[in-house]
Amino acid sequence: IIDVNQKLIMPGVIDVHTHMREPGITYKEDFGTGSRACAKAGVTTFYDMPNTIPTTATLESLQEKKKLASEKSIINFGLHFGGSKNDNVEEIKKVLKNSEANTVKIFMNVTTGEMLIEDNEILKKVFENSKLVLVHAEHEMIDKAIELNKNYGKGLYVCHIPSAEELKKVINAKKDGNLNTEKHPVYAEVTPHHLFLNTEIRESTERNKMLLRMKPELREKSDNEFLWEAINRGEVDTIGTDHAPHLIKEKLEKVTFGMPGVETSLALMINAYNKGKISLEMIQKLMCENPAKIMKILKRGKLQEGYFADIIVVDTKKEWIVGIDDTIESKCGWTPYENWKLKGKNIMTIVNGKIVYENGKIQENVKNGKEIEFYN
Ligand code: NCD
Ligand code: ZN
Ligand code: ZN
Ligand code: ZN
Repeated sequence: IIDVNQKLIMPGVIDVHTHMREPGITYKEDFGTGSRACAKAGVTTFYDMPNTIPTTATLESLQEKKKLASEKSIINFGLHFGGSKNDNVEEIKKVLKNSEANTVKIFMNVTTGEMLIEDNEILKKVFENSKLVLVHAEHEMIDKAIELNKNYGKGLYVCHIPSAEELKKVINAKKDGNLNTEKHPVYAEVTPHHLFLNTEIRESTERNKMLLRMKPELREKSDNEFLWEAINRGEVDTIGTDHAPHLIKEKLEKVTFGMPGVETSLALMINAYNKGKISLEMIQKLMCENPAKIMKILKRGKLQEGYFADIIVVDTKKEWIVGIDDTIESKCGWTPYENWKLKGKNIMTIVNGKIVYENGKIQENVKNGKEIEFYN
């Protein structure tokens, strides 16, 4: 981080956990709108989750998705492959062998999508045949995932940990020399919504009762506090947004799990810095450095041109109102933080050495998003 008159020059945010809804659910989001939302907010790389239609659980569907993202994304991207309830271990082997992806996401609890794996044999085989496994796991499923990683796995990344109870499980595993080793490391992800929102806020209005629903569900204020403390003790590895857009109409009609997140994540964290809740160094670690390390992102570029840069400029003192002083780029058209007064805003986004966002404007002509490269 370089501070030039309270304007920070820092690495672009890498969001390990987003649902860009393409293919199949593009009335909620697509790689164009989703990547614009990212660019606006200072995210220069997103990783997309496999619970699309079709699910990203075959080599073919992965390649098809890559093509779509390459055509439409204005920022860099990675794709998580998916474990299927119908046993797609042969596909997982192919994908990893050919380095088409280096991660596999599995769902161990009910949530949006059709990817819940309940069969223990399949779970075991997924861990045996993957490198890093990202899990949607709540409560005792976290214990199970930790156990699977220890016995069969080569790495576990626990997504969107919502509560003290659940984060403690992961922290204990991270501290245990048998459970967290170089051969099978354990990583913890926390979302902005589990830091900034809770059941009290959810229950405060009829609208919030419907809008602020996601898996894992929001927890208590005391959970927010435990998560912050754990972050400041260095016990959390990443902030991932779990950007999971649904139309407001769908959210209000019936309980629908998921909320948008990429457009507000960095600003919320800079605002928290301004309130003394976290250091800039820790924000950089959680949102830039650790994601790059955990995902094993390779530096890209040709020597004679210098390295391509993913850099953002953040005005830490700029005050603004979410949804009022900015336009919402996500196709879902809403944010759970509407009307929040924040201090701190991304003002410039540079992807692969080119400006894609500046002075409130997305550069329409720049479409240079590339698939990230990784090392093994
Ligand atoms: C996500 C979605 O909508 O795709 N929903 C959610 O509530 N978090 C799926 C997921 O991440 O569990
Ligand atoms: Zn999930
Ligand atoms: Zn529990
Ligand atoms: Zn998710």
